[in-house]
Amino acid sequence: MQNMSDSALRCISCKKSYSDKDVLYACPSCGNLLEVVLPLSEFDPGVLRKSFDSRDIGVWRYKELLPAFAAKEPVSMHEGGTPLHRCNNIGRELGVKNLYIKFDGMNPTGSFKDRGMTVGITKARDLKVKAVVCASTGNTSASLAAYAGLAGIQCMVMIPSGKIALGKLSQAMMHGAKVFEVDGNFDDALNLVMKSSLELGLYVLNSVNPFRPEGQKTAAYEIVDQLGEAPDALVIPVGNGGNNAAYWKGFSEFKAVGLSDSAPRIYGIQAEGAAPVADAFRKNANIIVPVKNPETVATAIRIGNPANWLKTINAIRGSEGDCIAIPDSEIISAQKKLAKSEGLFVEPAAAASFAGLLRLLKSGGIKNDEKIVCVATGHGLKDPDSAIKVSEKPVRIEASIESLRAQLE
Ligand code: F0G
Repeated sequence: MQNMSDSALRCISCKKSYSDKDVLYACPSCGNLLEVVLPLSEFDPGVLRKSFDSRDIGVWRYKELLPAFAAKEPVSMHEGGTPLHRCNNIGRELGVKNLYIKFDGMNPTGSFKDRGMTVGITKARDLKVKAVVCASTGNTSASLAAYAGLAGIQCMVMIPSGKIALGKLSQAMMHGAKVFEVDGNFDDALNLVMKSSLELGLYVLNSVNPFRPEGQKTAAYEIVDQLGEAPDALVIPVGNGGNNAAYWKGFSEFKAVGLSDSAPRIYGIQAEGAAPVADAFRKNANIIVPVKNPETVATAIRIGNPANWLKTINAIRGSEGDCIAIPDSEIISAQKKLAKSEGLFVEPAAAASFAGLLRLLKSGGIKNDEKIVCVATGHGLKDPDSAIKVSEKPVRIEASIESLRAQLE
């Protein structure tokens, strides 16, 4: 893979730098998370624009702004390039002219995780790791299983027992991962994964891996390319806290290299039963208090102790946005609204962003005349049980035209 960039890892807190050839998830000096830094001042926006425009939209369109890899070709199955859907029907109802959904559920395994996994697994292959591992509320495990299979790397996934949506579980199993149901929640599973990396040498592909967000940040680049400019506000669900920070990194980098004039305010949305970041924002605190027993219908974001909490706080504060919590009932009605009025079937966690937007429009945090993008992170087919539970049941009829006529309104 030809790549201009000479990247390094840097601690998000003490700012110490490390080689990106080392396997590191946290700063050996202070223990905080790491991020990939690129020599942004060395890029010429005209040259970048020309290179990007010569390729199809998707994660690897932006390879000059991704870390360098040894291999010629990435481990890829056309991730990214997802639709930026203009919500004309809902927009008209709300009096919002410029409302868009970035439907990242249209990725190969049905969630935004594929953006990070194509980069993360390409790195794993470079490092010649013996096995990859993740903890997951579902989507990460489905994506990792698929990409590990594609690369021919052994894959283990840890999921909270009984709490992941059926579609996601079926994907991890079908793609050939070794699936472990952990007694406990996502936070317990992630603790186990981090220990396994230390003691068994497994390569962790949760969002604490600094290469994952590199792929995920390309969704921000895509939005700028699809809209022709950055939006005013971006609304996004927050679980483990990696994706919103990745978007902020993407928008900031595009601005820094001269490919965008502005970056949006980022609004993080959590479910009320799993909202440590929103709580910190409500109290104007700089640290989160973990939630012991997180609970929400949006199982993808059922996380009480987000590993990326500091990245999230920095991203949302840095963008002058906010983080709020919403009840499950609003998540479900937002999910139904998107499905019914816009043709977009998204999973509950993915509907959290649109539910949050409705609140933010009411509170005035976001104004009707702004350019708004809500991120829909996962496809509705991931969680058929939840969809069936909240929908009108099919009506049983005899196979006759009379019985059908009786049903017509
Ligand atoms: N939306 C969906 C559909 C998700 O699957 C996740 C996270 C998020 C939003 C939140 O993103 O963690 O970066 O803040 N899912 C992870 C998983 C935790 O294991 O699949 P985040």
